[in-house]
Amino acid sequence: MLIALLPGDGIGPEVVEQAVRVLNVVTDKLTYESAPVGGAAYKAQGHPLPAATLDLAKRADAILFGAVGDPDCDKLERHLRPEQAILGLRKELALFANLRPAKLFPELADASALRPEVATQIDMVIVRELNGDVYFGEKGMRTTASGLREGYDIMSYDEAEVRRIARVGFETAQARGGKLCSVDKANVLETSQLWRDVVIEMSADFPDVELSHMYVDNCAMQLVRNPGQFDVIVTGNLFGDILSDQASMCAGSIGMLPSASLDDQQKGLYEPIHGSAPDIAGQGKANPLATILSAAMMLRYSLGLPDEADRIEAAVAKALAGGARSPDLGGTMTTAQMGDAVLAAL
Ligand code: NAD
Ligand code: IPM
Ligand code: MN
Repeated sequence: MLIALLPGDGIGPEVVEQAVRVLNVVTDKLTYESAPVGGAAYKAQGHPLPAATLDLAKRADAILFGAVGDPDCDKLERHLRPEQAILGLRKELALFANLRPAKLFPELADASALRPEVATQIDMVIVRELNGDVYFGEKGMRTTASGLREGYDIMSYDEAEVRRIARVGFETAQARGGKLCSVDKANVLETSQLWRDVVIEMSADFPDVELSHMYVDNCAMQLVRNPGQFDVIVTGNLFGDILSDQASMCAGSIGMLPSASLDDQQKGLYEPIHGSAPDIAGQGKANPLATILSAAMMLRYSLGLPDEADRIEAAVAKALAGGARSPDLGGTMTTAQMGDAVLAAL
């Protein structure tokens, strides 16, 4: 099976390298092809998502992605910025369902920003819509009648977009604890009112799932107050982006949270939820576990290798139990040493 490796910028290549080392220990069924993406691709080829990179992503059975983002590129026209590469891949490949599991490995209870008795309760999945919302609406800059500069981004969802992600939310809840919390801002936004109406309509097809609704501001608070109350959250693109970074701190570090971005078949892009972390890039400080856990999700969801996925997750737990700690987890181990610890556990 062909894996497209898109390491990207900053710590992206550092963490992807460790994930490939781990994959190579658990299976010999994969071949790899790499391509530049993000700022690296812009600097080498003049575009953040070159045609050959997109082609590789389409041909591959699955994509393992690092991160994109480069401060050198922040002043470029928007369509040339590194972030357009990941947005383009999600859209071009119709990867509309982003699964972001957040759980605390018990060994990391001391690393969470929350009290251990609160943090250890977190075991949830955020199902984030990935192809719509304010991310993909009309946007631009204009001048108002009174001569002021004005930026705008249109937020919208149609009912088909909501239905297909709501279904993923209900099915994910069905396969887990049977509880789905739909997060929106229906008290203010029409987009959210439609979202809530459609989710309620769909709940008739899932009588075994206990559905609740929560406003996003309250959800941000509840994630810190009592993260254990959540099983599955389904939400839009922007809210899901923000809430998943927040959930990561309940789980110890943003360097711990993996993700899968799926289409309606088995095709998927797998990446840590974090970015290119320019502040620590090139220093061997990045925690590679989110990417290693993303590789495990790839084996499970796209490649039909669930036992190998289980082995990786067990090895991560064992490495943590053995004291593996990168700086974000309060330790001193380098990125490569964290990879070594997982390999040793395997
Ligand atoms: P970030 O996630 O890159 O970093 C936020 C903070 O978390 C930083 O202090 C960083 O050092 C730390 N951090 C992140 N990952 C870590 C890891 N694996 N180990 C240890 N510490 C880690 O977010 P940011 O600083 O807001 O963004 C930096 C760049 O990354 C921007 O250009 C942004 O657009 C981009 N970004 C890309 C993606 C993606 O490729 N999917 C996701 C988020 C941000
Ligand atoms: C993420 C990132 C991206 C997003 C950016 C880099 C476009 O924050 O993957 O969480 O907002 O989706
Ligand atoms: Mn994000």
